[in-house]
Amino acid sequence: MNNKQVQEIAADCEQLPERYIRKQDEEYGANVTKSDVTSAVIPVIDLSLLISSPLELDKLKSAVITWGCFQAINHGIDGSFLEKVREISKLFFKLPADEKKKYLREENDVEGYGNDMVLSENQTLDWTDRLYLTALPQDQQRLQFWPQNPTHFREILDEYSSKIQLVNEVVLKALARSLNLEEDCFLNQYGTTAKMQARFNYYPPCPWPEKVLGVKPHADSSAITVLLQDKEVEGLQLLKDDQWVRVPIVPDALTINVGDQIEIMSNGIFKSPVHRVFVNSKNERMTLAMFCMPQTEKDIGPVDGLITDERPRLYKNVTFTLDFFFKNYQQGRRAIDACRI
Ligand code: SIN
Ligand code: FE2
Repeated sequence: MNNKQVQEIAADCEQLPERYIRKQDEEYGANVTKSDVTSAVIPVIDLSLLISSPLELDKLKSAVITWGCFQAINHGIDGSFLEKVREISKLFFKLPADEKKKYLREENDVEGYGNDMVLSENQTLDWTDRLYLTALPQDQQRLQFWPQNPTHFREILDEYSSKIQLVNEVVLKALARSLNLEEDCFLNQYGTTAKMQARFNYYPPCPWPEKVLGVKPHADSSAITVLLQDKEVEGLQLLKDDQWVRVPIVPDALTINVGDQIEIMSNGIFKSPVHRVFVNSKNERMTLAMFCMPQTEKDIGPVDGLITDERPRLYKNVTFTLDFFFKNYQQGRRAIDACRI
């Protein structure tokens, strides 16, 4: 574990520590042919229409095939509750360093408070601090890492997780129906308990924003990831057609992307997008990613209905563990590449 968090480095930064300086050739998004970053409208999907409107369902399908990502509105979570969720994150990261360090993660663990995990000596570090917690199932919560301060942290995160679990179900069922499959076919692969991990991300301002990345290019290992964006500060970019594209902030929307596990279950029809995070010199940025996925010990694979003569099976059955994901990630590789047939 690096003993200094990025927040501490940023507060007293005369020179950028070497380990945070990006190395272009390490970034597997580096085979980008168009060097400028463009803006685009990521499709906005009204979740409340997905059952009644074939048009909206089609829009979802095409968004996930084209972008692997969409902005979900009418998701059933009040803007005022989203504000409370942002607030617990803000209050936590504003605590004095010693207070936050009560929740410090252990060296070889992912859960708890800390900065980028160091898996190799020459790895470039992400310009971010995180609080990483298993939110569901509840009996797997490791409460020693759940902040006592702010006092309502636990209650808000529990409530948010159960709301996001409903969003996860709505989206997975709709994705299945959009491919004319039985609506539970993706959810059935979750087994008896769904798993959800919460990662609170804090990106301090950086005096040399172009020299670092908040998060290196990667694709998520989840089934889907539900991101609560910062209210004002953008930073997320997606790689599409060999070009980086900014993901704008849509007020009160949840930014949802599919992860490697849905790419595998859909036999490659839905794409888990490569993305990265930029930081800026003036403003801090805070986001909360909820990673929704099957039980980690559960084998997943392409659903039967999507393996045909025209589209043979593209992926092996695999068990996605965090270890497997991080080993690939820190070496600039996609975990899913190890799953192809
Ligand atoms: C991530 O993809 O790891 C974080 C996304 C974000 O903070 O915008
Ligand atoms: Fe991600």
